[in-house]
Amino acid sequence: MIILAVESSCDETAIAITRNGREVLADEIFPQADMHALYGGVVPEIASRNHINVISKLADSALSKAGLTKADIDAVAVTYAPGLIGALLVGLNFAKGLALSLGVPLIPVHHIRGHIAANYIAFPELEPPFVSLIVSGGNTIIADVKDYTDIRIMGYSRDDAAGECFDKAARVLGLPYPGGKPMDDLAQGGDDTAFKLPIAKIDGHPYDMSFSGLKTAVVNMAHNASQKGEEFDKASLAASFTKAVSDSLVPRAMMAVEELGYDKISIAGGVAANSRIRADFEKAAKKAGVKLYAPPLKLCGDNGAMIGCQGYYEYLAGARAGSDLNAYATMEVDKIHY
Ligand code: KG4
Repeated sequence: MIILAVESSCDETAIAITRNGREVLADEIFPQADMHALYGGVVPEIASRNHINVISKLADSALSKAGLTKADIDAVAVTYAPGLIGALLVGLNFAKGLALSLGVPLIPVHHIRGHIAANYIAFPELEPPFVSLIVSGGNTIIADVKDYTDIRIMGYSRDDAAGECFDKAARVLGLPYPGGKPMDDLAQGGDDTAFKLPIAKIDGHPYDMSFSGLKTAVVNMAHNASQKGEEFDKASLAASFTKAVSDSLVPRAMMAVEELGYDKISIAGGVAANSRIRADFEKAAKKAGVKLYAPPLKLCGDNGAMIGCQGYYEYLAGARAGSDLNAYATMEVDKIHY
């Protein structure tokens, strides 16, 4: 089954062509980060306008790279939630128009379910059940992936997402947007014990997380130092910050695998590209005798292939949307609304 998949939930316009879920025939991405860097974060209207500019050309180019024509498309999958509403609507309306004109099914896909599915593409042998930690710019979730479309949230960040926190910390350290990768690079030369930073715990909710206190601590340290005209070791602050994020994520996710008695854990989303977090997971998984699935960096960030892959499993489970499908800025990964 050939699926054309559309992803436009934030600042990446992406179109992929997948066959039977896990085979990627084309994966076109137009990243806009450079256009938002000037503002230190994603500007929703600029994101939407850029999606409109490129989405059609990207679809043509994906088809030509796959060596296919529109007549070969069996279904159109599209991210409909969560994300920036204007950005989502561009992809959604493009997908609706295409599905309608070709007379093929329209498959609604939850963005976070897509991130989880990135691991199915990277690891053909991976099958549920497993625990997935999804850490991106907008979400931090520990999920029990019971089956391809049966996903239960075990814990989530009560405030900022880990990626958002990386971006904010990077900004006060004078690094460009998006700050995750520059923070990763800067932390390489630092001492992760140099700064004592808070790791929040939420009473009675062992899997829930909070990153706003950590973010504020880094912002305050940087501002205090600059107000006093003091120099501080930025690399060590980046390393201490990354350790604090990793110490919030890794033990909780490992605790979830242990509680469920699974032997597999996957990580997904942009922050899953972080070298320290990946290394800490590798160590923890090895110690616990659990197999870790960490997708290649290309599949960590937003992409269309993950939407095509999850779209296939949603299709098999009976997911179909009409031309009244709406977009939603927020939606829990275990909810469905279409
Ligand atoms: O999954 P993603 O591409 O978009 C969302 O769906 O949000 O994640 C983007 C986030 C940004 O906050 C970015 O700074 C972060 O992922 N990121 C990283 C790294 N690479 C990207 N964070 C930490 N370390 C990295 N190497």
